[in-house]
Amino acid sequence: MVITIDGPAGAGKSTVSRLLAKSLGFHYLDTGAMYRAVAMFALREGLLQDSDQLAERLPKLQLAIDRGQVWLDGIEIKDTELRTAEVTAASTLVAAKSFVRNWLVEMQKQIGNSGNFVTEGRDQGTDVFPEAVCKFFLTADPRERAKRRLEEMGAAGFNPMPSMDEMVASIVDRDTRDSSREKGALRAASDAIVVDTTALTKNAVVEKLEREARSRIDGVGVQ
Ligand code: DC
Repeated sequence: MVITIDGPAGAGKSTVSRLLAKSLGFHYLDTGAMYRAVAMFALREGLLQDSDQLAERLPKLQLAIDRGQVWLDGIEIKDTELRTAEVTAASTLVAAKSFVRNWLVEMQKQIGNSGNFVTEGRDQGTDVFPEAVCKFFLTADPRERAKRRLEEMGAAGFNPMPSMDEMVASIVDRDTRDSSREKGALRAASDAIVVDTTALTKNAVVEKLEREARSRIDGVGVQ
């Protein structure tokens, strides 16, 4: 069984997805980390602007993911490496390429269908798991999302840190790009439960999602 959690950057998806998966005894899949990993690969190999070469090299790339932990060709990638401003900006660019999306979506379907998963991203409830029995779409005010991202970056020891205004601008820019691409655009599935997390604590969001998820699981039965 798959539970999907989509929404824009900084809406609280990662923490909430992890906590929800833990309380339900499900696995957790961070699909944003997969786009970030491809972005890192493209940057490292100088292929960000060379779609033909990237398309040729991608199928040979060994990408492994377990929760949020990523390995590229067998080498463990640190979370701080995946979340630099450079990789963040590049991830939106690679996410707009259909061949990257097709490759990752196929992988995500295989992983998600192998057990009970909470999957987190932008297109999980729309394109990847349209048949999921429980779909959530988290939103929050852009300033609140920027504040949360800054707190996370501060806790992870990023230095130098962007200013609040720079963070808001980067979040709004990413929302626009993620919402306007042709394939896998950021949008709520018609049957998703939309939750505005601006004024809610993480625990309150998790409790709300868990209540809803449990009622759906009880209706369907987890295999
Ligand atoms: O959730 P995140 O910030 O780690 O995502 C990084 C980028 O990957 C983001 O710009 C949008 C893209 N992404 C996507 O297009 N589809 C997904 N399922 C997950 C992320």
